[in-house]
Amino acid sequence: MKYNLSIKKSTISLAIVLMALLSSCGGNSGNDNAQNAEAPKSMVADDGQGVGKYKNDEFPALDTAIASKGAELFKLKCSACHKLTDQKLVGPGLYGVTKRRKASWILNMMTNPLEMTKNDPTAKGLFEKHLVQMTFQDVNDEQAHKILMFFLSNDSK
Ligand code: HEC
Repeated sequence: MKYNLSIKKSTISLAIVLMALLSSCGGNSGNDNAQNAEAPKSMVADDGQGVGKYKNDEFPALDTAIASKGAELFKLKCSACHKLTDQKLVGPGLYGVTKRRKASWILNMMTNPLEMTKNDPTAKGLFEKHLVQMTFQDVNDEQAHKILMFFLSNDSK
């Protein structure tokens, strides 16, 4: 009996030491997690997709019929501020935009420009450079995809 009891005691004290070690580790990692959760947005890795509902970063295959509809929309809604070369007007020249940005980023910029310049690091940088806020041009989902196709055809030249 005595022998058994002493084994139990040492087992229990070992368990207590282990628990103390585990809980001190757990306490530390808990603190780390809390710090991560409170990290500012600027510290979160940028996936290049922009801020908005579009997540797919793949471009569609070039369709010239859709691109020419996008060209009309661009003339109407965007050409007051953008050239199709690399020259700045009010905003940046859009030549090469499909090479430097993901499809989802461009779609988010067309449909959600205010949040983009506030919360997307790349768009924020453009705003700081151009000092004019790109305003929402009433671009719906279908129109945004047509204009994206037009940018693809512009960049294929
Ligand atoms: C009032 C002027 C204005 C109009 C109209 C406008 N934009 Fe912009 N756009 C800007 C400015 C300025 C920027 C840079 C970001 C900022 O300062 O808001 C920009 C940025 C962009 C960018 C990012 C360019 C890059 O180099 O990554 C894209 C893409 C874009 N605009 C597309 C469009 C499209 C498409 C339209 C039409 C539906 C449009 N813009 C209409 C002013 C405008």
